[in-house]
Amino acid sequence: MIWTAALLVIVGSYADSDDYCYDEPHCDSYSWGDMFPSCYSLIDHHDSPINLDEHMVRNASLGALYLEGFEETQTGHWTLKNDGHSVILQVGSGMAVSGGGLPDVYHTIQLHFHWGGPASNGSEHTVDRRRYPMEMHIVNIKSIHPNLSAALDDPTGLAVLGFFIDVVYADNVHFGHISQKLSSVAYKGQATKVKPFPLMSLLPKHNMSQYYRYYGSLTTPPCSQAVVWTLYEVPIYISWSQLAQFTSQIFSTEEDAEQVTPLQNNFRHIHHILSRVVSASIDAKLLRGAAGRTLWSATSVHLLPVLLLGCFLPGL
Ligand SMILES: *[C@@H]1O[C@H](CO)[C@@H](O)[C@H](O)[C@H]1NC(C)=O
Ligand SMILES: *[C@@H]1O[C@H](CO)[C@@H](O)[C@H](O)[C@H]1NC(C)=O
Ligand SMILES: *[C@@H]1O[C@H](CO)[C@@H](O)[C@H](O)[C@H]1NC(C)=O
Ligand SMILES: *[C@@H]1O[C@H](CO)[C@@H](O)[C@H](O)[C@H]1NC(C)=O
Ligand SMILES: [Zn+2]
Repeated sequence: MIWTAALLVIVGSYADSDDYCYDEPHCDSYSWGDMFPSCYSLIDHHDSPINLDEHMVRNASLGALYLEGFEETQTGHWTLKNDGHSVILQVGSGMAVSGGGLPDVYHTIQLHFHWGGPASNGSEHTVDRRRYPMEMHIVNIKSIHPNLSAALDDPTGLAVLGFFIDVVYADNVHFGHISQKLSSVAYKGQATKVKPFPLMSLLPKHNMSQYYRYYGSLTTPPCSQAVVWTLYEVPIYISWSQLAQFTSQIFSTEEDAEQVTPLQNNFRHIHHILSRVVSASIDAKLLRGAAGRTLWSATSVHLLPVLLLGCFLPGL
């Protein structure tokens, strides 16, 4: 009974999505995920996403990850599909990630996207409460696990590489490998072949040693607490029109549905960090904006008496 009431409260608040609303269950922007009991954690433990702020601990052992096969053009073909909740690129075998403090080698299986709407941002993680327009997740499964369900029972069964996506005026030609195919997967259930391309061409390749690390969960059902997160500091840049292809031209409904619904705001609400530590890699610049503010407030504590003294001195 209480459970039903709680779910109804959440259902009732879907329309109230608000970028300035954080850390409270009623602020949920994303509908379907929270309908799953395993995702509706009354007590957050190791859930994702989180807000990144200046409370991070530098870890000198966190160097760049080793991204095997990311520079090469894989053989065969990849598959892009719309599952009604996201657009997913299944990348076959041939790529793996390791190093950078990961406890094992992880095979790359797919990447997918989270976005907002035509006039709102939709990254899952936030930086100083700021939401980026989109976020891309490269999902990797620990090589010792024969299947996903086995990996989800392991607290470090998956390694997800998260990239913020920001917007500029110029098209990103490499991103075109995906965005040009989106019209073929506009509706739920549709899939199309994509010619493999070097995955590194999508990524901020000069800044791959700048990242944050924490232990969290899937942000989509079953929301298993099984993910080692690596969040890169420098975003991927795409154009406004490439962004609009996601926010306006992808649907959560099937092609023959009576009512067509755009797929928007497919992000999960922010969860508490609680006792977790968010680590910063050796080269991370620690969120320039936040670092600047911390410096200012620390400085101002010392400057204030001097300034006040300066104001009063002339009167003495
Ligand atoms: C630094 O990262 C390494 C690799 O993940 C980990 O084993 C170690 O516990 C971390 N150190 C701290 C102080 O968090
Ligand atoms: C949304 O993203 C744009 C482009 O990066 C940014 O200028 C704006 O501050 C973001 N809005 C919010 C509410 O985070
Ligand atoms: C996944 O792997 C585990 C461990 O080997 C096995 O017990 C389980 O039956 C497998 N599940 C599926 C769905 O294949
Ligand atoms: C990206 O890396 C380059 C080369 O190390 C560095 O000069 C630049 O400042 C980095 N960009 C950001 C935004 O941190
Ligand atoms: Zn995701």
